[in-house]
Amino acid sequence: MDLANKILKRKARVAIIGIGYVGLPLCVEIARAGYRTTGIDINSKKVNAVRRGRSFIDDVPTRDVAAVVDDGMLEATTDYRVCRNCDIIIICVPTPFTPTKDPDISYIKESGRSVARYLKPGQLIILRSTTYPETTEKILQPILEQNKLKAGKDFCLSFVPERIDPGNKKFTTRTTPIVVGGVTKSCTRLTELFFSQFVDKVFPVSSPRVAEMSKLLENIFRSVNIALVNELAKMCERMGNIDIWEVIEAASTKPFGFMPFYPGPGIGGHCILVDPYYLSWKAREYDFHSNFIELAAETNESMPYLVTDRLLEVLGTNGIPCSRARLLVLGAAFKKDVGDIRNSPAIKVMKIFMNKVRRIDYHDPYVAELEIGNKKLKSVPLTRAALRRADCVLILTDHTCFDYRMIFKESTLILDARHAIRRRGASKLYTLGYQRVKRLPTAG
Ligand SMILES: NC(=O)c1ccc[n+]([C@@H]2O[C@H](COP(=O)([O-])OP(=O)(O)OC[C@H]3O[C@@H](n4cnc5c(N)ncnc54)[C@H](O)[C@@H]3O)[C@@H](O)[C@H]2O)c1
Repeated sequence: MDLANKILKRKARVAIIGIGYVGLPLCVEIARAGYRTTGIDINSKKVNAVRRGRSFIDDVPTRDVAAVVDDGMLEATTDYRVCRNCDIIIICVPTPFTPTKDPDISYIKESGRSVARYLKPGQLIILRSTTYPETTEKILQPILEQNKLKAGKDFCLSFVPERIDPGNKKFTTRTTPIVVGGVTKSCTRLTELFFSQFVDKVFPVSSPRVAEMSKLLENIFRSVNIALVNELAKMCERMGNIDIWEVIEAASTKPFGFMPFYPGPGIGGHCILVDPYYLSWKAREYDFHSNFIELAAETNESMPYLVTDRLLEVLGTNGIPCSRARLLVLGAAFKKDVGDIRNSPAIKVMKIFMNKVRRIDYHDPYVAELEIGNKKLKSVPLTRAALRRADCVLILTDHTCFDYRMIFKESTLILDARHAIRRRGASKLYTLGYQRVKRLPTAG
């Protein structure tokens, strides 16, 4: 039976390499669609959790994992040999940057080499990790072809960018359209056929590099727009008496040609902060300097330092010496309603203040503990007493479940970097992007 028929008859077997934020939800979705699926990961804790039918990702309920595991539709292993028995192999490994912000595609290379060992004719290999254009064709394809099988002839190879938005309850795997680009037309068609079994809208493009670039465009679009609004927030602070949040609310009433983005303490996670660097790095290979990308990164990455300056100012204005201050940080995750702390600006701010203040505590219902430098911190309960004890409460991640009424009532002083507490003019409340003081123009 050829692979197209196997896909239609739900006989195709699927392996997903990397069962993290992207891979685990995909495992569950594909298993639910009726394909026997195996998650492969080098992390044995994750593998064991799946085997026991347990989830470790907030958006994926344990009951969903348990249901497909109990039905025998989902298995997990650390052993790549299962690839021999699989028809479709999807790679979802990390693509971080190095400390100097160059792309680190070592995980793609490593998993590619492992897949190559067991590659056989007729298989479909799909890369989902976000990466710079030409990774699929110039990096992964030669690795897969090392045993003489040819992509587009003996096996199929495609790039299918991932659009998952952790914490987003509105768009699911089924309702989020996806882009598909194969190294040949038949690779694209086969990949399209597979995904259209469990995704409502699949959009084919002419090559993997177009698909790779489209993913980067989506994330750079966000990064640039967030940077723009962060810059305007700084401008409003400088001018005084113009509240950026009110400005955005007003502009958002325009029903066309405007999309609101919001300022904050910085961007984090595995995507918006990291991906733009992948493209600016690649562009340099062509003597091309992507000023927009670099400028957006510079602005967004300055935001934790802006929060730092504002906090020092707030403490100073209220007569609290920094070295004696007790801070309570609300939210450690990089964005609301998730537990992902990768590149979190909240942690950056905490790190800056770690040895400068008397005490720093944090509360995050999604992050039980964290490590900053060599210090281990545990999330403290969000109680009236904890709020009253703090000289200043910093809202760095605006989780929906926070009781903002209580936070406002019980805190002595609040620096709200997310505009979570909407009480303009309250004397104990300071908001990023708004200064109550009218500043004097510096020139003219
Ligand atoms: N997290 C998101 O919201 C999101 C959204 C869109 C795209 N992406 C992209 O998806 C990719 C994966 O991101 P993620 O957030 O799921 O990362 P993650 O760290 O949560 O998961 C990746 C998994 O891959 C495993 N892994 C690493 N090397 C491996 C190997 N050689 N073999 C098998 N397993 C291996 C890790 O142990 C980990 O469990 C990245 O390229 C990311 O940019 C992520």
